[in-house]
Amino acid sequence: TTHDLESILEFTVALARTAGELILEGSEAIQSVQASKDVSEKKNSVDLVTEYDVRVEELVKKELATKYPNFKFIGEESYSAGSRPPLTDEPTFCVDPIDGTTNFVHGFPFVCISLGLIYRRRPVLGVIFNPFLNHLYTGIKGKSSYLTKANGKPLKLPLASPPKPLPSLSQALIAIEWGSDRGEKTITSKASGFGRLAGNPEQDVKGGKMAHSLRSVGSAALNYALVAQGGLDLYWEVGCWPWDVCAGVVIAEGAGCVVTGSHAVFATTSSSPSFGDVTEEILTGRKYIVVRAIGETEVE
Ligand code: IPD
Repeated sequence: TTHDLESILEFTVALARTAGELILEGSEAIQSVQASKDVSEKKNSVDLVTEYDVRVEELVKKELATKYPNFKFIGEESYSAGSRPPLTDEPTFCVDPIDGTTNFVHGFPFVCISLGLIYRRRPVLGVIFNPFLNHLYTGIKGKSSYLTKANGKPLKLPLASPPKPLPSLSQALIAIEWGSDRGEKTITSKASGFGRLAGNPEQDVKGGKMAHSLRSVGSAALNYALVAQGGLDLYWEVGCWPWDVCAGVVIAEGAGCVVTGSHAVFATTSSSPSFGDVTEEILTGRKYIVVRAIGETEVE
């Protein structure tokens, strides 16, 4: 019930803040030693995993299991270590302990814990906390989402209300991500997609299809939060994981955004729209976020 979700939100917000302290401690530790000694490689030098990813996930997992012993748990680090429970109708926490790991290692302050709850295979609650900026984003399915800054009152999202209708793609600030797969095929395909979005003056005059500009924030969850906030108009990424998007889906939808594609992460019945569909939505004035289903690699 909504009452249950409110109390779960209260608990998970406190837990995210505690996790945030550990993230900041980790950042200081990493900055003070040679990064090369503290950082191990998961897939390649871009997809970094640190001791703190594991420590934060262990802390969060333990606290959640104590408070909600019947809830299931999906986490990035547990998944990497081989814990891959099937998704059921049961309440399931879905956590990325440190989203924006590369930023974390470099001290680029767009790092967060992303803590979501799935119920009946749909995201129903989201907490995203960036301890570097002390920005807390919260959402409960069917209700408004909020941003709480340091010592401030919760601000309803989007901050500029109602969201600005965008007469054309040329007025959109779009988040794109390079991801961790740096294989030639993937990067060539992505770069050409990004290139078409960045466009050129000639193309802009003819079709008005060039984005205002592109951004790479380096955290999927914060991209969602920033679209919910109104600072970005669109976020589009191929191949996110459930823990990257679970909390963000709820927060973005509660801010009036449209989320497409990422539901395929939670259910098997969803088709991802083409970038043309996304453009169409922007032209009709709605904020739009698209995250494609796991496993898809094409960029149109
Ligand atoms: C990644 C970041 C990155 C996005 C990837 C995510 P991680 O999560 O959010 O910006 O491009 O899709 O997997 O590895 O930093 O937790």
